Amino acid sequence: IKKIGVLTSGGDSPGMNAAIRSVVRTCAYHNIECTGIYRGYQGMIEGDFKEMGARSVNNIVNKGGTILKSARSKEFMTVEGRKKAHQNLVNANIDALVVIGGDGSFTGAEVFNNEFGYPVMGIPGTIDNDIFGTSHTLGFDTALNTVVECIDKIRDTASSHNRLFLVEVMGRDAGHIALNAGIGAGAEEILIPEQDLGLERLLESLRKSKASGKSSSIVVIAEGDKIGKSVFELKDYIEENMPEYDIRVSVLGHMQRGGAPSCFDRVLASRLGVKAVESLLEGKSNFMVGILNDKVALTPLENAIKGHSEIDRELLRVSDIMST
Ligand code: F6P
Repeated sequence: IKKIGVLTSGGDSPGMNAAIRSVVRTCAYHNIECTGIYRGYQGMIEGDFKEMGARSVNNIVNKGGTILKSARSKEFMTVEGRKKAHQNLVNANIDALVVIGGDGSFTGAEVFNNEFGYPVMGIPGTIDNDIFGTSHTLGFDTALNTVVECIDKIRDTASSHNRLFLVEVMGRDAGHIALNAGIGAGAEEILIPEQDLGLERLLESLRKSKASGKSSSIVVIAEGDKIGKSVFELKDYIEENMPEYDIRVSVLGHMQRGGAPSCFDRVLASRLGVKAVESLLEGKSNFMVGILNDKVALTPLENAIKGHSEIDRELLRVSDIMST
């Protein structure tokens, strides 16, 4: 392997730039070339490439987003699209690929590897933390800190006005952000896709909290929760059943995806980038580089895609006890 391509794909996450930097610098360290591929797989199809030397990634370790831009490419889902992409890599003498993204991006990488026998390595980058084979994905820790900071601020005003706040956080299929940030910010209840609390149980818990003397409360809701109502419909429903509550809704949205990466995410990105490049140089392919028990570990891409990153049930219990 003489030249490695790197791209970011799917939803961006804080720490992606630190991972790009790590891949580029590890290539430079081993005296091989590195090519940045813009806009994920779409840029691969369009040949939107740029050579990257060690100095091209100065001053990005601290930056949110991705300097390579990101996209969700429909064309890459077609054989024709992937053939074009493969030809562009061959023309540019790129011998292997590092894909920084989530499970959709890894599915693309795996198909590409199967079709062309092309060496690929994945680095998990998504705030959702919903990837099997790593305890942390890039951006998860930063997103948690962002959410906790926001809820702390909401708590100030909630408490001044004796209000109940419903705070919606990201996570369309996974409740890791809601559960961890909910505990960190002292939420009364946490609604996640992995557990169907049911509306009755929610009302019951809010009644109990009122009766125990709490004057304000915060409920954290993952966008993919199983309650079957939008956060605004939920507000109406609680108001109808508990008119004593003055309720407000706050949807945190994409601010959770931005901002400077935490130190944890920067260190993680640096470690995963080194391992991704060095694994390719050792002839390995079709793996995701993750972190397990604080050790960098390889998981076959297939398992990373198909496996489930389980919710820690102990956290549900902790959350219950903390809301006493
Ligand atoms: O997968 C990351 C994520 O931020 C999810 O939590 C969220 O549901 C989704 O991306 C939003 O996607 P988009 O930026 O395309 O609206």
